Amino acid sequence: MLIKRPEAIKPSEITDQATYLNRRQFIRDSGLLGVGVASALAGLPWAKNSWAEAPGLPSYTDLRQSPFSSDEKLTEYEDATSYNNFYEFGTDKSDPKANSRDFVPRPWSVVVDGACEKPGRYDLEDFLRPHPLEERIYRLRCVEAWSMVIPWVGFSLGDALKRLQPTSRAKYVAFYTLHDPERMPGQKRRVLQWPYREGLRMDEAMHPLAMLAVGMYGAELPNQNGAPLRLVVPWKYGFKSIKSIVRISFTEEQPVCTWNQVQPNEYGFYSNVNPNVDHLRWSQKKERRIGNWLKQETLMFNGYADQVASLYNGMDLKKYF
Ligand code: MTE
Repeated sequence: MLIKRPEAIKPSEITDQATYLNRRQFIRDSGLLGVGVASALAGLPWAKNSWAEAPGLPSYTDLRQSPFSSDEKLTEYEDATSYNNFYEFGTDKSDPKANSRDFVPRPWSVVVDGACEKPGRYDLEDFLRPHPLEERIYRLRCVEAWSMVIPWVGFSLGDALKRLQPTSRAKYVAFYTLHDPERMPGQKRRVLQWPYREGLRMDEAMHPLAMLAVGMYGAELPNQNGAPLRLVVPWKYGFKSIKSIVRISFTEEQPVCTWNQVQPNEYGFYSNVNPNVDHLRWSQKKERRIGNWLKQETLMFNGYADQVASLYNGMDLKKYF
């Protein structure tokens, strides 16, 4: 996905130890999400998850297991949180972890606008409250041909959207990431047109597999993975899974999406995982599961074809890639 080489990270962008420790204090002081969250903090035992590697973030309890879950071997927590794409914090895979350490994803609100009956600014807590959290083990397949299997914590995107009562004019839904170069230093460079934005057709967004995530591996989302709220659309290439969402907009027209805007020949609006449609510069037939040496075949719709193929009946997926 990298287009330009990043300049060196300025020392001023690197968090000092005191700020980092303050963040931990902030989490302790501010209380937790208030939605089925237990106050297990760094140093305390991890109540439930055998894979938990004490990430130092508040953990969730009593999560329902989703029937949609994959039963594949999970990616190691360390890999899933240190090899990331999040250009708001830099363009190298190790940048998001290093440069998001002092990002404080609170207070947080989500603006809802466009074709719906319930527009407004929602505090994150209010936005989340009606939705029981569940755990869904989904694959995420990046356009760069690597993939991970992650136990996400969240709820159905469609349930959240229904509550906002889209009108009949709503044909698409657009998502925007926070735009704040002081808090997201990667935005000081014009490697993308900020804010990062993404979009789905309404029927895609309402599909039960589409998910809003607030956590992974039983705990809150680490900053580098899109805290405090991100999308997970498991049958599409990873860049559709937009992080740190601050705005949801219902539109009549197909929304602008960041990568499609930057390089329309390489990144289409739909971006369904499709081994039969090569990326302009490389094949999409195989992928490397992070943690494995050998490559494996990429599956149509990332293995979710039984559930989602009918959304695209009659469409030429080579044209609408
Ligand atoms: N969201 C924002 N706001 N900025 C980004 O750079 N990168 C995307 C997506 N969401 C990105 C983003 C890409 S290219 C991928 S592959 C996934 O996030 C990676 O998610 P992960 O770091 O949790 O694996």
